[in-house]
Amino acid sequence: MKILLKWQLILLGLLLFYRFHVEARSTRPQRIINGSKAKAQQFPYQVFFEILNNSKWIPQCGGVIISERTVLTAAHCFEDKFDLFRLYFGAVNRKNSSETGQQRLIVHRENTVIHEGYELDQSLNDIAVINLPAEIQFDEYIQPIGLPSPNQVIDNKDGITSGFGSTQAPKNGIIIKSDHLMYLKVRILQNQMCKPILHKYFPARFFPASWVCIAPNKSTPCGGDSGGPLVIKNANGDNTLVGITSFGMDTICSLKRPGVYTRVSSYLEWIQSVSKSTKLYLNGIQ
Ligand SMILES: *[C@@H]1O[C@H](CO)[C@@H](O)[C@H](O)[C@H]1NC(C)=O
Ligand SMILES: *[C@@H]1O[C@H](CO)[C@@H](O)[C@H](O)[C@H]1NC(C)=O
Ligand SMILES: *[C@@H]1O[C@H](CO)[C@@H](O)[C@H](O)[C@H]1NC(C)=O
Ligand SMILES: *[C@@H]1O[C@H](CO)[C@@H](O)[C@H](O)[C@H]1NC(C)=O
Repeated sequence: MKILLKWQLILLGLLLFYRFHVEARSTRPQRIINGSKAKAQQFPYQVFFEILNNSKWIPQCGGVIISERTVLTAAHCFEDKFDLFRLYFGAVNRKNSSETGQQRLIVHRENTVIHEGYELDQSLNDIAVINLPAEIQFDEYIQPIGLPSPNQVIDNKDGITSGFGSTQAPKNGIIIKSDHLMYLKVRILQNQMCKPILHKYFPARFFPASWVCIAPNKSTPCGGDSGGPLVIKNANGDNTLVGITSFGMDTICSLKRPGVYTRVSSYLEWIQSVSKSTKLYLNGIQ
């Protein structure tokens, strides 16, 4: 019994490392995102943020715009200690401060609501809302994305996920997050397909309906992509947000294992209840 318990604890401990974000500082990925470079205006809902640590801005996580005043991200992006963070909107090359369309906004941690049920150990309810202190001005470079409807079918659909996460092997143990926004096309797995894969690696884990997985393929999200979007295109051409990048099933951003996202349709009521904005977009329609 004791041995079994210990094994479970070890597995839990391992899973902590496997988060796309945490992994960025604790491990050395041999594999990298094998994605494509985004063009300006291609992902106008994409956000990235840095945290202020000892007077230095450090790349942290992705996010996604869902209204003039609201950004969604992952709860685990707030595991580190920091008070201020700097959001990038409309950016493709985040280091280029004169980039056309790019806007930045410094936000206090108090403006963030982390889900009350968030649990790092279990990767549960890995979602947070950032209530922006000022309205974002929408233009060709900066746009919100529609939230899914509660019963929208997303399984087995093609999706797209994007971020400024790691694209290269670390140098001297430091992972270099991407200056350039990257994306990859993905296939969304049914939970009943993903669950046995998780259990192959982590037999003791349970698998909540509030997760959604992407199939392993030639590319994968990695450290720093956390909090970013998983999106599908509707028949009418509108985009719908289906997931928030949460964690991977190993430490090396392997191309052989699924990536796991927080399923946004499980949190619609929560998002509305904590968002200071009255204007959220459902399926691209206000
Ligand atoms: C913040 O800076 C300290 C000292 O430079 C470092 O040890 C720590 O890992 C940093 N924290 C983050 C979240 O990067
Ligand atoms: C920075 O952005 C400006 C305006 O979009 C562009 O003209 C310039 O080439 C960019 N610089 C780099 C280094 O990408
Ligand atoms: C890999 O992704 C591509 C889309 O980029 C898709 O056409 C293909 O079916 C995927 N392969 C698998 C095995 O899921
Ligand atoms: C990266 O993607 C390219 C094109 O899809 C593919 O040929 C290549 O094998 C991939 N790299 C890895 C390491 O899988």
